[in-house]
Amino acid sequence: MRILFIGDVVGNMGVEMITSKLASIKQEYRPQVTIVNGENSTAMGRGITENIFKTMMRSGVDVVTLGNHAWNNEDIYNFIDDTPKLVRPANYPGKVVPGHGYTIINVNGKKLAVINIQGRVFMDNIDDPFSQLDQLVTDLTDQVDAIFVDCHAEATSEKLALALYLDGRISALVGTHTHVQTNDGRILPNGTAFLSDVGMTGPIDGVLGMKSDTVIERFLNARPVRYSVVDSGNAILSGCVIDIDDKNGRARKIKNIIVKKDDLLGM
Ligand SMILES: [Fe+2]
Repeated sequence: MRILFIGDVVGNMGVEMITSKLASIKQEYRPQVTIVNGENSTAMGRGITENIFKTMMRSGVDVVTLGNHAWNNEDIYNFIDDTPKLVRPANYPGKVVPGHGYTIINVNGKKLAVINIQGRVFMDNIDDPFSQLDQLVTDLTDQVDAIFVDCHAEATSEKLALALYLDGRISALVGTHTHVQTNDGRILPNGTAFLSDVGMTGPIDGVLGMKSDTVIERFLNARPVRYSVVDSGNAILSGCVIDIDDKNGRARKIKNIIVKKDDLLGM
């Protein structure tokens, strides 16, 4: 099976890249399943709305994953329980966590589990992603043919360590959250595809999607500043395409993709 994974959709411009570009990207790469990280997709760049989720699904997305901003749009509590194809990090603590930490979908007669897990290095101290992912994979492995993990984390070391810890037991682990696409995509020794970060989808004339003057002000003054999302100019869509052998669930290939909004970027 071929998976298209698209990284962190930021604000209105990010959503617009999905609605305007996904059809042609799918025509070019012919994925059988499309997964998008949508945790920054509101106009404010934090969380997701039900409307945006539905817009993404209408545009050809099969599963939307989240991350540390999953809860920032409070409206999420009104629909996440009834939306199994919207997957929040599986390792939030508490007896009852709203929503779903994974989903299982049918892809050409095969079953694919999509898991969202969140790192702890330089992030909130939630439950241990290593033991949580280990347990989830143990539980799911007999039920599915392939397992894809969106690892929402800050530190490349944590993402790579998690991928190596599960190498051979999951088909792919791809990082999100840092919004910069890395160039280290590879197949690990036991058959798991790995990429430290898939990169962001949305405006690039700012700092990771946010207006640069506010971000610079915070670095200069070390005082809290309200960030706002860039809403005009150039944009990119960052993703990767992963080929998985349906017979054994092992990855064969992982390839980065970058699609530009227009030809003005000089990239
Ligand atoms: Fe994030």
